[in-house]
Amino acid sequence: MLQGAAGRLSADGSSVRAMRTPLRRVVAAAAGAVTAAGLSFTAAPPAGATTATPTTAGAAITTAGTAPAATSHPPTGRAASGRDSLFPGQGTDAYDVRHYDVALDYAKAGTISATTTVRATAARPLPRIDLDLEGLTVRSVSVDGRDATWSRTGTKLHVVPRATVHGDFTVVVRYGGRPVTHIDPDGAKDGWVPTADGATVLSEPVGAQTWFPDNNTPADKASFRVAVTVPAGTEVAGNGVLSGESTRAGRTTWTWVQREPMATYLAMISIGQYDVYRSSLRLADGRTIPVTSFIDPDLGSQAAARAQIAPAVRFLERHFGPYPFSSVGIVASRIKVGYALETQTRPFFDGPVDTSTLVHELAHQWYGDSVTPADWGDIWLNEGFATYAEWWWQEAHGGQTRAEAFAKAYATAADDELWGPAPADLHDPALLFSDAVYTRGAMTLEALRHRIGSAAFDEVLQRWAATEEYRSTDTDAFVALAERVSGQRLDGFFDTWLYTPGKPARP
Ligand code: TRP
Ligand code: ZN
Repeated sequence: MLQGAAGRLSADGSSVRAMRTPLRRVVAAAAGAVTAAGLSFTAAPPAGATTATPTTAGAAITTAGTAPAATSHPPTGRAASGRDSLFPGQGTDAYDVRHYDVALDYAKAGTISATTTVRATAARPLPRIDLDLEGLTVRSVSVDGRDATWSRTGTKLHVVPRATVHGDFTVVVRYGGRPVTHIDPDGAKDGWVPTADGATVLSEPVGAQTWFPDNNTPADKASFRVAVTVPAGTEVAGNGVLSGESTRAGRTTWTWVQREPMATYLAMISIGQYDVYRSSLRLADGRTIPVTSFIDPDLGSQAAARAQIAPAVRFLERHFGPYPFSSVGIVASRIKVGYALETQTRPFFDGPVDTSTLVHELAHQWYGDSVTPADWGDIWLNEGFATYAEWWWQEAHGGQTRAEAFAKAYATAADDELWGPAPADLHDPALLFSDAVYTRGAMTLEALRHRIGSAAFDEVLQRWAATEEYRSTDTDAFVALAERVSGQRLDGFFDTWLYTPGKPARP
């Protein structure tokens, strides 16, 4: 197994991998769905192109197929249907959130009392505003300053304003109680996780709704201000810039401001006993940004990892372009969730921080956090790129080359998880963090470099970060960009690597 992927899973027995849905069933379902969707071969392949035939679970294809490579797949994802392909109940496209203001009071007993203000815009008249909220007790809701009626079904909060909203509107929700932990389709913990000395919220994919009412889809990004009040002597990590820390009557309020757009799943707070380390970092374009890190004292000072933040950011800037945010840092905690997370500006690690995983989570600041897939089915745009960044870092630091990393992964035979599902056609939310997404996603990029050459490839990566900065986007846009930059027709190539289950022919 690749070092980077292993690094994000707990070393203890509670590996999320072990909890996953059996893959054989999943893969068979995916293969069936491809046929049902009516994929058809429509065009001749580019010269020299090879393709693999869709196949049954785990069957490794080692010889080139003969079918024409270019396929047209029907539009998928949020853009086409308005619903997420893997989490169809999440969020809405009825309005667009501009800003979240979350003011949250945390009591030592583990309960919260909070007010979330959602500023949004509706392009069409809206008689009802649906928000995502899981657990907790709603105390009151107002819209544009007037009391509104509301009801709850499942994880939806339905708000009925006195008057239909159209254009800009503001919803204020007062709520509280003991937040719940969300359990993901793959068995991992997500959302609010209580700890011995506080709580941590890691929200990929849908846990954000366990601590604030939101439009909980990566298709709708917004700026954030999060103010958390805790007993004095407790620290609170968050996203963006720490704009205030003030104590009154034994309670301290930590205020975090994230000006650049952020997806709800990247919003993080971590309440507990932390050592806080502050420094600054000079970026390639001359900006100086604060580096603020929160380290669990039980993990020592993590000095070596913290010293790697600056070189890692500089390395990534060289290849991906300017760092997209105005602060950076890490959070390292003992909490055993079984994964690290690219929480915006301040990635979270559930233990000691190794360099490869640090590079992975920092690479996500470009790919995932700034450039965000609108639909969870496009998560390879996050994980393939972050895994590729690990390969690139290793190559630049005396380790295996990217080509060697690719060859090693390609040599993995009969691996249902790696060669089963197609990375951009997953069909099962339990496969979000599978090897097909991480390793085959990174392999897709290395195969692309092989196909279009390093110069064009470098330009594709930089332009992807630049043109899609702060946006929610999709795989089709990436394919179109790669074709524009390379001047080659690549639909057959991407169809093989991203949309066809089974091991692709050697490029
Ligand atoms: N996105 C995380 C990363 O690669 C990993 C992750 C988040 C994860 N949630 C998970 C992995 C749940 C397994 C299970 O940086
Ligand atoms: Zn990742």
